[in-house]
Amino acid sequence: MNHTAVTTHTTEVVLPGKVEPSGLQVHTRELPAPAAGQAVLRMEATGVSFAEQQMRLGKYYDQPPFPFVPGYDVVGTVTATGPDVDPALVGRRFAAVTKIGSWAAHQLIDVADLVPVPDGVTSADAETVVVNGITAWQMLHRSAQVRSGGTIVVLGANGGVGTTLVQLARHTGITVIGTAAPRHHAALRELGATPVDYRDPDLYRRIRELAPDGVDAVFDHVGGAGIAESWRLLRRGGTLVSYGSAATKDEGGNSRLPMLKLVARLLRWHLLPNGRSARFYNFWAGRRRIDTFRGRLREDLTAVLGLLADGVLTAQVAARFPLSEASSALTLAESRTVAGKVIIVPDA
Ligand SMILES: NC(=O)c1ccc[n+]([C@@H]2O[C@H](COP(=O)([O-])OP(=O)(O)OC[C@H]3O[C@@H](n4cnc5c(N)ncnc54)[C@H](OP(=O)(O)O)[C@@H]3O)[C@@H](O)[C@H]2O)c1
Repeated sequence: MNHTAVTTHTTEVVLPGKVEPSGLQVHTRELPAPAAGQAVLRMEATGVSFAEQQMRLGKYYDQPPFPFVPGYDVVGTVTATGPDVDPALVGRRFAAVTKIGSWAAHQLIDVADLVPVPDGVTSADAETVVVNGITAWQMLHRSAQVRSGGTIVVLGANGGVGTTLVQLARHTGITVIGTAAPRHHAALRELGATPVDYRDPDLYRRIRELAPDGVDAVFDHVGGAGIAESWRLLRRGGTLVSYGSAATKDEGGNSRLPMLKLVARLLRWHLLPNGRSARFYNFWAGRRRIDTFRGRLREDLTAVLGLLADGVLTAQVAARFPLSEASSALTLAESRTVAGKVIIVPDA
């Protein structure tokens, strides 16, 4: 038996072109029945990632053509299954990374992308660690492989990825120096990090005072000229994990050029015979070997969700908005005032 007989309508938020957050549109359409390998997922929580801030400017590295429905990840419940899909999935709760499409009440989704969410974790809490949790986990444990007793620097420690990375590192017994605006310093201390003001002209001297022997890893999503300072903070054996270019978001011109320049620079540093390494973390790397990619993603997200269920991680929800107010959610996320993740939930 499959569950495709009921027609589902969905409400979704559309990014029609390069617009201000207020230019997002809310549409309703009929959702086709799920095909083989697919299910219908009813959204219970999605969220705003930095990617949507870049996408609305046409500045995301892998920019989707306009118009499209944004929404990088989702937590929801399966309401219908495709012809060859186990109907027992209906009623169960899952998380998935979609890159786009999750700012929707319902969506068609490949069943192979679904990762179970443990009971006892709310959907909004789970949502804070889907793309953010996988990114933070993989950078810490797969890219940099920092061990207990090490010291790291997390730039933008108040953000969605940043707050998750701080918590995962502290849980591993790693000392964390986190950069953020002073308004977030008390919260960062509560998460166990030593905060430093990212606008302090003496920022890097201040970090060197805190870690005079250098650090084991720097996690840098800012790029731009400051990446050289991040590189200089490393001790021998240390790793620079670069994973974004926030500094160039508002620059005109080709959206890929700043990233390509950054990666070329990292490669040059990496090849220097100086006992340090530099790499770019890309969430989507290895996607061509889809089964391996999905297996790793599932393993890492399951580990992070388990830590959330066990109370090791505390979900950092900055604010919640109903789907029809996605433009307000994006405006807030872009205000550069929030700590943690801005969450979008279904309309009442
Ligand atoms: N490579 C990958 O595969 C991958 C995967 C996921 C995420 N990312 C990157 O990870 C970063 C964080 O993503 P997120 O979703 O966690 O974002 P978020 O919650 O919006 O947090 C963004 C963080 O960056 C800081 N920031 C924003 N604009 C900045 C600028 N121009 N210069 C310096 N700092 C700036 C913010 O500080 P304020 O709050 O003070 O503005 C905040 O700490 C993004 O750059 C994103 O592109 C990369």
